[in-house]
Amino acid sequence: MDRRYLLTAFSYALLGLALGLYMAASHDHGQLVTHAHIMMIGFLLSFSYALCYRLWLEAASGVYSGGLVTAQFWLHQLGTIGVAIGLFLLYGEFVALEVVDPFLAISSFSVFGGVLLMMVQLLKAKQAG
Ligand code: HEM
Ligand code: HEM
Repeated sequence: MDRRYLLTAFSYALLGLALGLYMAASHDHGQLVTHAHIMMIGFLLSFSYALCYRLWLEAASGVYSGGLVTAQFWLHQLGTIGVAIGLFLLYGEFVALEVVDPFLAISSFSVFGGVLLMMVQLLKAKQAG
């Protein structure tokens, strides 16, 4: 799981950096919020999850169920992709806020759910010693 997170983290980094480079080159910083959240949620949060699995949860493997791991991974991935697409459409002025708002809300809760499930796993690992 740590390797899967590492690979997705750097994929989001490439995407977010490409958007950053585009903003810098075009002198149009309109996608600042999209770039910031792809880097922060997509790259940094995914990278921190890779470290969590590698450093804290690997040693405690067996104490967390496979279902929890899979749910945590997909909540984070679907949330991140949803937030990235939603913000891109919003700040590119392709779609009105009223239309994209529910989609962004669901995606944000999905990211939130990923953080919550990671915390559950870290607490379980601690209990297991
Ligand atoms: C190729 C490298 C990068 C380029 C060309 C780039 C470009 C940009 C640009 C043009 C802005 C908008 C600045 C503004 O209008 O105030 C911005 C903001 C931002 N960038 Fe990047 N960026 C790069 C790398 C990164 C990295 C590696 C991260 C984080 C891991 C990052 C995180 C952010 C954040 C959080 C903001 C928002 C800052 C604020 O709220 O003022 N960027 N970036
Ligand atoms: C999925 C849940 C999240 C939601 C709903 C959310 C929402 C927001 C909102 C509404 C803003 C203000 C945007 C504006 O300037 O109009 C913002 C800015 C910012 N957020 Fe988030 N955020 C989320 C997750 C995160 C995470 C996990 C990080 C960092 C690890 C982060 C880092 C930032 C930064 C650096 C800014 C300032 C740059 C900017 O204006 O875009 N956010 N966020």
